[in-house]
Amino acid sequence: MKGIILAGGSGTRLYPSTNSVNKHLLAIYDKPMIYYPLSVLMLGGIREIMIISTPEDIGRFEEMLGDGSAFGIQIEYEVQREPKGIPQALTIAEEFIADDKVTLILADNIFFGHGFTTLFRKAIKNHRHATVFGYRVKDPERFGVVDFDHHQKVISIEEKPEHPKSDFAVTGLYIYDQQAVKLAKKLKPSKRGELEITDLNKQYLMRNQLDVELLGRGFTWMDAGTHESLFEATEFIRITQKRQGFKLACIEEIAYYLGYISKQALYEKGKAMEKNDYGQYLLEIADRKYTQQYWDSIEHHPMLGLVQNE
Ligand code: DAU
Repeated sequence: MKGIILAGGSGTRLYPSTNSVNKHLLAIYDKPMIYYPLSVLMLGGIREIMIISTPEDIGRFEEMLGDGSAFGIQIEYEVQREPKGIPQALTIAEEFIADDKVTLILADNIFFGHGFTTLFRKAIKNHRHATVFGYRVKDPERFGVVDFDHHQKVISIEEKPEHPKSDFAVTGLYIYDQQAVKLAKKLKPSKRGELEITDLNKQYLMRNQLDVELLGRGFTWMDAGTHESLFEATEFIRITQKRQGFKLACIEEIAYYLGYISKQALYEKGKAMEKNDYGQYLLEIADRKYTQQYWDSIEHHPMLGLVQNE
């Protein structure tokens, strides 16, 4: 399974903050926005990842994350010349995807909730052709909307409908089989002049190959595309982290728990940032004594070769 993070776009909804900085490099509380989708792919066990962004910004992502080896993963970079739509990510990444399956995530999407890792890993394992993730929202007309019957069989999927058939938004996380690139190539631009990811999903639906996984009320899903939602996301992350003492989307911590990096490497990363809370957190993890209760309390243990990296 390959992973793609789409981090381009014009970011106009966040002007003037994004006049000269890519939206996905802005901080959501204590880390850059892109850490959040990257952590999702890592938690899903995906280690080969491509980041796609604009010609102006791609270098900044590379500067920040390098080839991924510091986090025990491989990251490649590609350019989207113009923001012509989300499915273009698949055609840009054609060679990278090769004959594999692919998970695509939008870089402004944040997922959090007890059991998310397990749900995502199961979705990857049980994946047939195309899987989208539905989340109940108060304003479905702002999103892709998926409707399904009581067996959770998808009935329809529509992009920003005026009269939504359900309250379930389609989140920016998609798992596709080997047909995705071929189908994406056949798409035509919509009225807003973009290729729509919803049109790709419709292609799968027509073939009876579209599945939906639901993220229940215990989950939080946010897209940080406006000033208001960026602030809400920041506030949410700050409060949750403060209350629990765990950081969300701390990719260094995840790499360590997954056994991708050693305790020494984690310690060195913490040392380099020891003057701030992020660095101190890494140092604290490197020093932690792990008990079974600890693992039971953080959900991670089913997928780990528990700290074999001592
Ligand atoms: O966030 C989930 C929603 O994302 C889905 O419910 C919708 O079905 C889907 O169309 C999309 O809607 P948005 O209106 O939020 O898409 P937006 O154009 O804002 O782009 C989402 C992210 O993808 C954003 O971080 C910028 C990036 N992007 C977008 C386009 C169109 C690119 O990097 N390149 C692009 O060409």
